[in-house]
Amino acid sequence: MTRQPFFYDITLRDGNQSLKKPWNLEEKELIFNKLTEFGVQGIEVGFPASSELDFTACQRLAQIAPDTTVVSALARTVEKDILRAVEAVHFCAKPRIHTFIAMSPFNMKYVLNKEPMEVRRLAIEAVKFAKEKIGAKGDIEFSIEHFGDCAENIDFVIDTLKEVVKSGATVINLPNTVERERIKNFVDLVEKVYIALPKDICISVHCHNDLGMATAATVESYFAGATQLECCLNGLGERAGNTNVYEVAVALYNSGVEVPLNLSNIYELALTVSEMANVKIPELAPLIGPQALAHRSGIHQDGAIKTKDMEKGAYRPIHPTLIGRKDDEKIGFTSQSGKTAIFEIIKDAGYPITIQEAVRITPAVKEAAEKVGELPTRNIIDIYFREVFNVKGDFRLVSFEKLAENVFNLKFFHKEKFYELDGHGNGPVDACLDALRQAGFEMKLIDYRQSALDGEIFGSGAAAMTVIHFEDKEGKTLISRGKDESTIKANVKAIFNGLNLLTE
Ligand code: KIV
Ligand code: ZN
Repeated sequence: MTRQPFFYDITLRDGNQSLKKPWNLEEKELIFNKLTEFGVQGIEVGFPASSELDFTACQRLAQIAPDTTVVSALARTVEKDILRAVEAVHFCAKPRIHTFIAMSPFNMKYVLNKEPMEVRRLAIEAVKFAKEKIGAKGDIEFSIEHFGDCAENIDFVIDTLKEVVKSGATVINLPNTVERERIKNFVDLVEKVYIALPKDICISVHCHNDLGMATAATVESYFAGATQLECCLNGLGERAGNTNVYEVAVALYNSGVEVPLNLSNIYELALTVSEMANVKIPELAPLIGPQALAHRSGIHQDGAIKTKDMEKGAYRPIHPTLIGRKDDEKIGFTSQSGKTAIFEIIKDAGYPITIQEAVRITPAVKEAAEKVGELPTRNIIDIYFREVFNVKGDFRLVSFEKLAENVFNLKFFHKEKFYELDGHGNGPVDACLDALRQAGFEMKLIDYRQSALDGEIFGSGAAAMTVIHFEDKEGKTLISRGKDESTIKANVKAIFNGLNLLTE
């Protein structure tokens, strides 16, 4: 599909009118500039007849608008509203007057208290009047408020729209003013209008989110023929809000549509708008919510980690950088999480760990998480230290002293029994293993490594770490660690941790 969507932003009008404290001129100007940087092609700047403040703001924004941006003002189908709207936006290169009236049987009868033919007449006259006043450089958008409720009188609506188009409207907006039913019903109506009107007429949709389906309604309407998509930043708007522009943009992008927006502005834009509107971003909000990239179940964490650097992630709809979000898929540890999360959390905190060790400490971390819910990283690290560097078991080191070159004295307990032996060998590791062998405890060492420790992470009490690899009775390789200020003690602690692992 090559048709490019036309993003028409209604944050400054529909979004603003729903705020507990609507924006002042400076605030509207800031959002307006952000919108043009984001790349939306049209901006509805306000409803000039609603207040002096809104009129002044619309005038100011029309004056500073880039020549490429359509700047639109809302007006009911009454002359004084239309004149005010024209007065407000006629300065810019592409002014638009957006006039509307309800046409659902319910609204015409109970709210407008007018006969359908009277409503039709008002619509046609308003469009003619607006076109005459805005002149050749401007265009007219006409909306049927409550279009989503017009299934029963759709033929009347379509006939009216044909007249409205003849009167000068080039954009026909079809709002789901209140989202009440399944999306397919709305999209079918949109398609009917699209088929009935001349192909040079731009079909637009404007969906409210009363049942949480506004994004779906907008996206599906695009595929049914709508080109203009009326959306709000952060999904602001009356009641449950309007269609959220970030979700629509990403859904279309993921569906292979050419989206003319700077998607990487999204995250920053969302945070700014949330602060300015004083409307918090919900924890679980798609794409922009604090938790939208967090994984807590073991299976999800495993998939997320395996696909972390790939554009397509196992458990995310986009790569976070697409919307300017840091690539920080959060791994939170709860009782539902698993070894992969522990491994990643400890590794990311800068500590050495293997998957085998993560598996080993998982029960202890899970037990702690069962008591408190999501465990802070600090607690996981404490458990890591306790379980990895101080393995509990039958063996307890008392002391290891150098007596002479290659001779060391080892004192330890095995269960309740005390041992004291002199071990001989080429260095402390060999000597310690020799002493243990004399006491009847054989340990098959495969490899050992010594490394200096980063004092910032491990604290000043640890300067050296020994890592040993050894074999258990079944020939399986195990790993153990020891840390100490003294390299020699780090070696022996690693051996004793290993012995305790063997008897665990
Ligand atoms: O929701 C709606 O129907 C509107 C119209 C004014 C377009 O906001
Ligand atoms: Zn609306």
